[in-house]
Amino acid sequence: MKIAILNGSPRKENTYAMCEAFAEGAKEAGHEVEILNVGKMKIAGCLGCEYCHTKGEGACIQKDDMDQVIEAYKTADMVVFASSIYYFSMTAQLSAAIQRMYCIGKPAATKAALLLSSASPNVYDGPIGTYKGITAFTGIQDMGIITACGEENKSEAKLAEVKALAASL
Ligand SMILES: Cc1cc2nc3c(=O)[nH]c(=O)nc-3n(C[C@H](O)[C@H](O)[C@H](O)COP(=O)(O)O)c2cc1C
Repeated sequence: MKIAILNGSPRKENTYAMCEAFAEGAKEAGHEVEILNVGKMKIAGCLGCEYCHTKGEGACIQKDDMDQVIEAYKTADMVVFASSIYYFSMTAQLSAAIQRMYCIGKPAATKAALLLSSASPNVYDGPIGTYKGITAFTGIQDMGIITACGEENKSEAKLAEVKALAASL
């Protein structure tokens, strides 16, 4: 299976550690994995102009780093959404990358997972709600949600949990 991990954090720290653990477990299980660091990409918000659904024939009018993510949406069998929590949300970059999915309707993937990193506990309702909405709307199967807060970040136990999820796919 081809797996695209969308790392919404602009840093290679806590969320990235979970992305790497996921990639390691998945690769050991024989999957092909690509981490896209969307947190560092220039991805503008959707303009809602409907160009993609009219003249654009599925292509967005905006030309930015989203082209790389669209390619992953079109080819990956599984998409992993990973993000740091910023003010009870996914990062703006990952939110933009999700909303810009609009031009293709839904990704080719049939499986998804969610990895979230925060400083405090009980801050995940927003991102989990978004993720569950997307999986229900697109019919993509949720393979698991893992959160890491405070000291759990980069801990051996948490990274082992992430790796085990990826190995079990
Ligand atoms: C702009 C900003 C907003 C944040 N908002 C929250 C928040 O609402 N709740 C929380 O628990 N942590 C919040 N944090 C802390 C990060 O979620 C936390 O440090 C996380 O582990 C960072 O992940 P990263 O190292 O992968 O970037 C915020 C951090 C930043 C920079």
